[in-house]
Amino acid sequence: MTALRPSTGAAHSRILGYGGYRPSRVVPNSELVEAIDSSDEWIRTRTGITERRWATPEETVQLMATSAARDALADAGIDPRQIDCVIVATVSHMLQTPSLAAAVAHELGAEQPAAFDISAACAGFCHGIALASDLVRGGSARHVLVIGVERLSELTDQTDRGTAFIFADGAGAAVVGPSDEPGIGPVVWGSDGERSDLITQREGWPEALATGSFPHLTMQGNPVFRWASFAMAKSALEALDRAGLSVDDLDCFVPHQANLRIIDAMAKAMKLPDHVRIARDITDMGNTSAASIPLALERMRREGDARSGDTALLIAFGAGLTWAAQVVVLP
Ligand code: COA
Repeated sequence: MTALRPSTGAAHSRILGYGGYRPSRVVPNSELVEAIDSSDEWIRTRTGITERRWATPEETVQLMATSAARDALADAGIDPRQIDCVIVATVSHMLQTPSLAAAVAHELGAEQPAAFDISAACAGFCHGIALASDLVRGGSARHVLVIGVERLSELTDQTDRGTAFIFADGAGAAVVGPSDEPGIGPVVWGSDGERSDLITQREGWPEALATGSFPHLTMQGNPVFRWASFAMAKSALEALDRAGLSVDDLDCFVPHQANLRIIDAMAKAMKLPDHVRIARDITDMGNTSAASIPLALERMRREGDARSGDTALLIAFGAGLTWAAQVVVLP
C-alpha cells in the first residue's frame, strides 16, 4: 500500500498579535429607552451597559474586519502575504456567499490564502483561535488570521425590550502562528442544540421575505443569564485545568462581554483571586458578539491591564447554544 506523506506542523502555536476596530457612532442608553419603555438606570443596573457603538452605513462588516485585521497584523509584525488562512467569525455578514473571509483576504493583499467564515455566534472568536492553533500545529497553515466581526445593530429589533439595549457592533482580530513554547492551551468547547431557541433569529430569510419582515434576533434573557453565569464558569475552569493551571496562575480573565452581571457572577463562581484582572469592555461597547473578546483584550492592553507574557483565560458563549474556552499567553 502506498503511504502518504503526513502533514507536519509547528511544535506549538501562539497568538502573535491582536487588534480591533470600534465603530464611530456612540449610542447612549438615552437614545434607546423611549422605543422600549425602559430607562438608563434599568439598563445600567441589569447589564452594566451605559453606551454602545453602532456602525454607520459606511462601516460595513468588511471595512471593520479589514481594519481590525490590519491592526492585528501590525501588532504581530506579519505582512498580509505571510497569511495562509483567514477565518472570519460572524453572523452578520448579509451575503450567504461568497465568504467575508475571502473578501477581507483580498482587500488586505494576502496571496490567495484559504479563507472561510464560521457561524458560532458570540463563541465564534474562541472557535477561530482553536481552529487556527490546530491548523498551525497540524501543518495546514503557518500564519492564520482570525477575525470576529458583527453589525448586530442591523439584526436587532430596536423595539424589542429583551435585546435592543444589549447588542452592538465592532471587530477584533488576532494572528496565530508557530511557537517554541505552548501559547494556546487545549480548547474546551461544545454546543447544546436542544436550547437553540434561547437566542435565535426569529425566522429564516424565506419566511421573512414572504411576509416582508426582517429576521431579527430574539432572546430569552433569564435562562441565558443563568446558563452563562454558572455552566460557563465551569467550562472556563475546565479549560484552565486542561492547560495544567489553576486560578492562581492567571493574570487576566477575558470572558465574552455579554453582560457585566454575568462577568461578575462568573468571576465569583470561579473564585478568581484579586490579582486577576478582569475585562469589562461591555460598559461602553455593549455586546459585540464575536468581536467582544479581541476588543476587550485590546482595551486591557491599552489601559495597562494586559501585558506581554500574561496568562489569559478566554471564554466565549452564545447562540446555538455554543461555547469555547482556552488559556492563551499574550504576545
Ligand atoms: N426595560 C425596563 N424594564 C424591563 C425591560 C426593559 N428593557 N425588559 C424587561 N423589563 C421588566 C419586566 O417587565 C419585568 O418587570 P416586572 O418585574 O414588573 O414584571 C422586569 O423588568 C424583569 O424582567 P426579566 O425579563 O425577568 O428581566 P431580567 O432581570 O432577566 O433582565 C436581561 C433582562 C435581558 C437584562 C437579563 O435577562 C440578561 O442580562 N440576560 C442575559 C442576556 C445576555 O447576556 N445575552 C447575551 C448572551 S451571548
